[in-house]
Amino acid sequence: MNSKVAPVTTEINKKGNLEIGGCDTISLAEKFGTPLYVMDEKTLVENCRNYTEPLKKIYPKHLVIFANKAMCVTGILKIIKKEELGADVVSGGELFNTLAAGINKEKIYFHGNNKSPQELKEALENKIGRIVVDNLDELKRLDALTKKQKKTAKILLRVNPGIEAHTHEFVQTGKVNSKFGIAKEQILHVVKLIEHMSGLDFVGLHAHIGSQILGLDSYYAEIGVLTDLAIQIKKETGKTCGEINIGGGLGIAYLEEYPLFDIKDAVAKIAQYFKDTVKNKGLGEPLLILEPGRSIVGRAGVTLYTVGVVKDIPAVEKYVVVDGGMGDNPRQILYSAKYETTIANKASHKKEETVTVAGRYCESGDVLIKDSKLQPAEVGDTLAIFATGAYNYSMAMNYNQVPKPAVVLVKSGKVKLIVKRQTYKDLVRNEL
Ligand code: LLP
Repeated sequence: MNSKVAPVTTEINKKGNLEIGGCDTISLAEKFGTPLYVMDEKTLVENCRNYTEPLKKIYPKHLVIFANKAMCVTGILKIIKKEELGADVVSGGELFNTLAAGINKEKIYFHGNNKSPQELKEALENKIGRIVVDNLDELKRLDALTKKQKKTAKILLRVNPGIEAHTHEFVQTGKVNSKFGIAKEQILHVVKLIEHMSGLDFVGLHAHIGSQILGLDSYYAEIGVLTDLAIQIKKETGKTCGEINIGGGLGIAYLEEYPLFDIKDAVAKIAQYFKDTVKNKGLGEPLLILEPGRSIVGRAGVTLYTVGVVKDIPAVEKYVVVDGGMGDNPRQILYSAKYETTIANKASHKKEETVTVAGRYCESGDVLIKDSKLQPAEVGDTLAIFATGAYNYSMAMNYNQVPKPAVVLVKSGKVKLIVKRQTYKDLVRNEL
C-alpha cells in the first residue's frame, strides 16, 4: 500500500481487509480481541537500519540507542538488541526490562532529571554503560554513592543547549527555560567540580532538543553548541569529550499529507555535519550517539479497535465510538495529536464520510481523531489507527479501570503475542 503512515508491509488482501506483516487484521482482532496494538517487525527493523546504515558509511564511530520510553516492551527490545542498538532508559523499571531483554550493558545510558538514590544504585550495581547526569544535585548524590559503594561511574553531562526546536511546546526540551539539563554556560564549572569527585569519570556531553522534529537546523545548532563546549572543556581542563550524544527527536509522518521526511537521509546529513564539524574544530573522532524513539517504533504500530456505537447528530457531528481511546492512546488529549485511520474490513471502500472517532472513556475530550475521512462505519467494524507504535503502549493508563490492551508482533504471516491483555485481577493486584 502506498502510505507514509502505515507499516511498510501493509496491504489490502483478497478479502478487502487490511493486512499487516502478512496477517489479516480482522483475524488478529478476532483472535486477540480489541483494542489491540499490532507491531510490524519488518518496519521496526527497517527503521533501525535507517540509522545504522548511513552511520556505518559516514561516521563508523557511532552508537544508536533506542529511547525505551517510546515503547518499553521486552519483545520489542529483543529486536532492538538483534539490530545491535543500545538503550536509553529513564527509570529503574525501564532498566529492568532492558536488562531482561539482554541488551549489552555497556550500551545502556541512564537518563532522567531526578533519578532516585535507589535507581542510581541499581545503575551502579548492574555496571551499565553510562549515567547521564542532569543536574548538580544528582551529581552530588552520585558522587556520594560511588564513594560509599567504592565504584566508579562513567558519566555524560546533560547540557541545556538553549535551542528551541520547532515542535509542540510540551515536547521541547532544550530551550533556556527547561527542567532538563545544565545550562551551557555552567558546564565548564561542573566539569571542574567532577575533577574532585574520584568516583566519577567524565566521558562526554549529551543534549536532547525535543521530539517530533521534522527539520535539521536545530540539530546543526545543537552540534555547534556541544562541539564548542568540547573545545572549551579541552582548553580549560585538558579533558577530552570522548562521546557526544545528540539525543533523539526525529519525527515521523502522522498524516499522509505531511511532507516527505526521509529518516535515512536526515541521519546521513546529521552524520556528515557532525563529521565535518569535529574535523574542522580539531576534536578528533568522538563517539557520536543518537537516541531515537518515535522514528524506530512509531510507524511500526497500528491499533485495532471495534466500533461499538455510531452516533449521528444531524448537521452537527457524526461520532464513531470505539472500544478504546485515551487510555490506550493519550496523545490526542495531551498534544492534539493527529492520526490517519481506516476501517480494516472495508479497507478498499471509499472514504466518503467525515466523522469524529471517539473513545469509550468518561471524558468529553476522549477523542482519537477529529474530522477524519472514513468509510461509512457500522457497529462491529474493525477500525485501525496508524502510526501508534510510539508513546501509546508506553503512556497507556488504566483510567476507568479499563485493562491495557495486548501487543502482538507480526512478521511474514506469523503472529506472536508479546504482551498479554491485562485482566481485572491485574488491575487490583496491588490493592489490600
Ligand atoms: N532522548 C531523550 C533524553 C528524550 O527525552 C527523548 C524523548 C528521546 C531521546 C527520544 O525522543 P524521540 O526520538 O522519541 O522523539 N510523549 C511524547 C514524546 C515525549 C518525548 C520525551 N523524550 C509524544 O508522545 O509525542
